[in-house]
Amino acid sequence: MAAGDAIMNAEMPIAELVAEMGQRIAAIISDEAEEGVVPRFNQAKTLGCLRGEFRVHQDVPAELRHGIFAEAKTYPAMLRFANATSRDDAEKDARGLSIRLSGARGPVLWGEEGFQDFVLNSYPALFVATPEDFLGFIRARQADRKLWFFLNPFNPHLKSFWIAFKSRQKHLCPFDVRFWSTTPYKLGEDSGQVVKYSVIPCSDYQTTQAENPGRDQLRAAMRAHLRREPAKFHFAVQLQTEPASMPIEDASVIWDETLSPFQIVATITIEDQDFADEDTMAACERRSFNPWQSLAAHEPLGRMNLVRREVYAHAAALRTSNNRE
Ligand code: HEM
Repeated sequence: MAAGDAIMNAEMPIAELVAEMGQRIAAIISDEAEEGVVPRFNQAKTLGCLRGEFRVHQDVPAELRHGIFAEAKTYPAMLRFANATSRDDAEKDARGLSIRLSGARGPVLWGEEGFQDFVLNSYPALFVATPEDFLGFIRARQADRKLWFFLNPFNPHLKSFWIAFKSRQKHLCPFDVRFWSTTPYKLGEDSGQVVKYSVIPCSDYQTTQAENPGRDQLRAAMRAHLRREPAKFHFAVQLQTEPASMPIEDASVIWDETLSPFQIVATITIEDQDFADEDTMAACERRSFNPWQSLAAHEPLGRMNLVRREVYAHAAALRTSNNRE
């Protein structure tokens, strides 16, 4: 059997998953380095890192008032928008949004005190259900046999293929894209509540045609948008109300919004700013985010999230220690 063929239906210990993913991802991104810059394994093309504010609303329902959402307060935010796989913005792709809030009060689970990260994708489900399947995909990517991972007749991943297909879209501007956490998080240290997040565009302006069509059209569209109007998003949480149909351990399942609608808890606003100059873009390359950079009230849940803590940290260390200043 070639690399990527191993059938992995059995649960692997987390430490083994982390070790193998870490080692393979390190090899993949080192191979992909260009001019001394080691890229991210996922969401490698930076569209921009922008400063914004994250304003928690006054009227958050009592059951959602935990951690960051406990009181009406405005947090400074840093937001990184990215393309999942493509360097050409005109192509279909999934997009990523990573958010770091500063001024978060309380001890963090990992990382630096005072910061809360949220890491989101532009599709409500992840293309794989489990970290074992994610590892299968990483093996296939390393062996340059991604299609085989999806269509291997001995161990097909047809649902993954479908989600990967559906999540790739043409977009005109990242400020008009909706994002989802796909994986679940605690809401409240001891409340027993489980939620997913979504970031929902709500600007007064929408891009209706490509701005400077071509490889960098999304960055151009972001600049054009901000010159006209601030970019705005709602930040919303969806409570897990039916554990059977809203599982923690299958990241490929979309939690039904008709059973439990997303409830808005905050508004993100991004004002006009210079973000596409060389220095700001280079600083953005050196940034890293981690779902575990988090207050205990928002603890990442499930095995998929568990492996991300060390795997992200390892990949980020490799990038930031190797990348040129
Ligand atoms: C086992 C599951 C996963 C693994 C192994 C994995 C791996 C990685 C790695 C290695 C990076 C680069 C980190 C860095 O260099 O700083 C990354 C970035 C990213 N991943 Fe994942 N990922 C997983 C699941 C997810 C999920 C569920 C989402 C959905 C929201 C996601 C969204 C992102 C985004 C948006 C970034 C870019 C972070 C940034 O802006 O720096 N990943 N992922």
